[in-house]
Amino acid sequence: MRSAGIVGLGSFVPEKVLTNFDLEKIVETSDEWITTRTGIKERRVAAAHETTTTMAIEAAKVALKDAGVSASEVDLIIVATVTPDYFFPSTACQVQHAIGAPNAAAFDLLVGCTGFVYGVITACQFIQTGASNCALVIGSETLTRIVDWTDRKTCVLFGDGAGAAVVAPVPEGHGLLAFDLGSDGSGGPLLKAEALQSCCEIPTGVGLNGRPTIYMNGNEVFKFAVRVMADSTLAALQKVGLTVDQVDLIVPHQANIRIIDAAARRLGVPMDKIFVNLDRYGNTSAASVPIAMDEAKRSGRIKEGDIVVATSFGAGLSWATFVMRM
Ligand code: ACO
Repeated sequence: MRSAGIVGLGSFVPEKVLTNFDLEKIVETSDEWITTRTGIKERRVAAAHETTTTMAIEAAKVALKDAGVSASEVDLIIVATVTPDYFFPSTACQVQHAIGAPNAAAFDLLVGCTGFVYGVITACQFIQTGASNCALVIGSETLTRIVDWTDRKTCVLFGDGAGAAVVAPVPEGHGLLAFDLGSDGSGGPLLKAEALQSCCEIPTGVGLNGRPTIYMNGNEVFKFAVRVMADSTLAALQKVGLTVDQVDLIVPHQANIRIIDAAARRLGVPMDKIFVNLDRYGNTSAASVPIAMDEAKRSGRIKEGDIVVATSFGAGLSWATFVMRM
């Protein structure tokens, strides 16, 4: 099988910034509480004309440019999102039309915050087997539209944005080296937003204007996240015979600095080997890893030949890690 990897990255975030001080005016909270408990200082909020689809399109265009690939070369589009504009048509089909990719198959992937990492691993399978030659994987979210703005335990955590990667054949020894995927549906009730009907007798977020909102058991998700991010990273590295010392950069899901800190301690990795930008964007779910990877590359933290680990956890519950030589 041929090698497959990320050959281009891009991202898009809305202009509107919502700071912790702004949130002090919405719920009973403080910049000090949010900063010390989460590391988040501000997040972006989509304007009325911005949606999961429009942001996905913008991020995709930047990634294609970065890869030096035209939209007509793309033969597979995967969009990871928990906040699609529609149940159907899929966000991926709308992106396909908007960027002008007539040769692409397109589908959405719903794996919570883990979706982008799942998507890259999926796209790599298509490329490795020769079923696809050029894939676009996008994570895009407008979480601020499903946040309960009266619930201080969750509304301070989330933000909007999109990130994208072009996945294509790469020279042998580069690209995807190993991965770890997992799920545990028994933890589903810990983190959820209802769609049509609930089957579980558990509390849910207060519906705002009839919309579903996010419900989360923060403490349980916290413990789960620390455990799986460390264990999944080690499991993936073990498959390819690498140790954490040989990794140049870890790009974790940007949910909470204390989760990242604790996972880093569990792994025995210094924080300077871990990319963090959650202070500026909060948790953007499936968009968090591609936005972070794009920023890491543009700021020189990811260089050609580097071994990069991307690791994520999320609703499902689910988790995923890939190890990639860039
Ligand atoms: N401002 C002020 N006080 C608050 C706020 C707030 N925004 N939110 C909660 N509190 C209060 C609580 O009411 C509680 O008060 P009480 O003791 O009087 O009842 C106190 O602070 C402590 O609450 P805890 O929930 O125990 O606070 P904790 O330190 O656990 O932090 C947090 C909560 C930040 C949500 C944490 O549990 C967490 O980060 N969990 C993981 C969440 C996460 O990242 N999930 C992933 C999201 S989705 C995804 O990525 C898949």
